[in-house]
Amino acid sequence: MKEQFQNNILKCASIDHLTKAAQTIQAGGLVAFPTETVYGLGADATNDDAVACIFDVKGRPYFNPLIIHFSNQVSLSATVVFNEQAKKLARAFWPGALTLVLPRKSDCSISLLASAGLDTLAVRIPNHPLAQALITAANTPIAAPSANCSGEISPSTAEHVMQSLGEKVDTILDGGPCRVGIESTVIDLSGSTPTLLRPGGIVCEELEKVIGPIVLSDGSEDKNRSPGMLERHYAPSIPLRLNAKKANPGEAFLAFGSKVNARHTNLSHMGDLKEAAANLFAMLRMLDQPNFRGIAVMKIPTTGLGVAINDRLKRAATM
Ligand code: TXA
Ligand code: MG
Repeated sequence: MKEQFQNNILKCASIDHLTKAAQTIQAGGLVAFPTETVYGLGADATNDDAVACIFDVKGRPYFNPLIIHFSNQVSLSATVVFNEQAKKLARAFWPGALTLVLPRKSDCSISLLASAGLDTLAVRIPNHPLAQALITAANTPIAAPSANCSGEISPSTAEHVMQSLGEKVDTILDGGPCRVGIESTVIDLSGSTPTLLRPGGIVCEELEKVIGPIVLSDGSEDKNRSPGMLERHYAPSIPLRLNAKKANPGEAFLAFGSKVNARHTNLSHMGDLKEAAANLFAMLRMLDQPNFRGIAVMKIPTTGLGVAINDRLKRAATM
């Protein structure tokens, strides 16, 4: 069975592999592909049936809209309305781990399903050569959520995609482990104040240096603006215990920093948050074993990338 799946993983992504993946997108199929953040489950964003397939395969609720990936700003600006703040952020951070939520243009060609009934669209230009090559070869914007079943831990390798979605995906392009390892930062620029909908790979303070203050959405009073941030998410199959000093009997231990026994699985021995973000999903998956009662995770600083890491851990720990 595994071997059969393996045929769908296109290892070194030669031109032939890329052409096959692009043809799959054009034919309305699903291609999992690497970005610098996590692997995406991609489909032609202008094809309603293909976009519907993404929701089906992930078991994703239809109220949770998708991010649309572009290779450049020319094609992107035909779909959404840019304001000054969007222009500044795009200039500073694209291609990169930043998603902007902007008003849809009235003649926007992107499937309405991808917006889940909202009059906005989440858009991003990923900073990964394979993602760029795929979007360019398919010659269409690609709608792509993270390539995992809804609610599960996001995938940072092609193997993770195979474990989560296996034969439900037509093709998996393998670009190795994702460099950033945590999803993009999502900023809503469609209202009167820029709002952080999801902390992610680009630290909010960096964005504020470019556009000034960004309001934090806690998701509760703003359900319509951040429909994807409500659920238990990023969750392993066993319980997660946060801010742990040590493991209780039967628990796996996920450490951070240098003040622990070297044999523990450690997000970063050096206490480097960038390294911790890159390791987070792979290590959670590794420790998500039925022989453990749960996973005890050490306290992670709440500064810089630690904000996004703690956001994911908190959601993963929600029962
Ligand atoms: O790094 C990433 O962002 C990855 C890679 C593949 O690009 N994608 C990703 O997609 O994490 P997904 O679907 O797992 O998360 C997208 C988030 C969800 O929280 C969703 O609710 C939010 O973006 N979102 C998408 N469109 C939106 C919109 N129009 N308004 C508000 N939130 C939106
Ligand atoms: Mg996701």
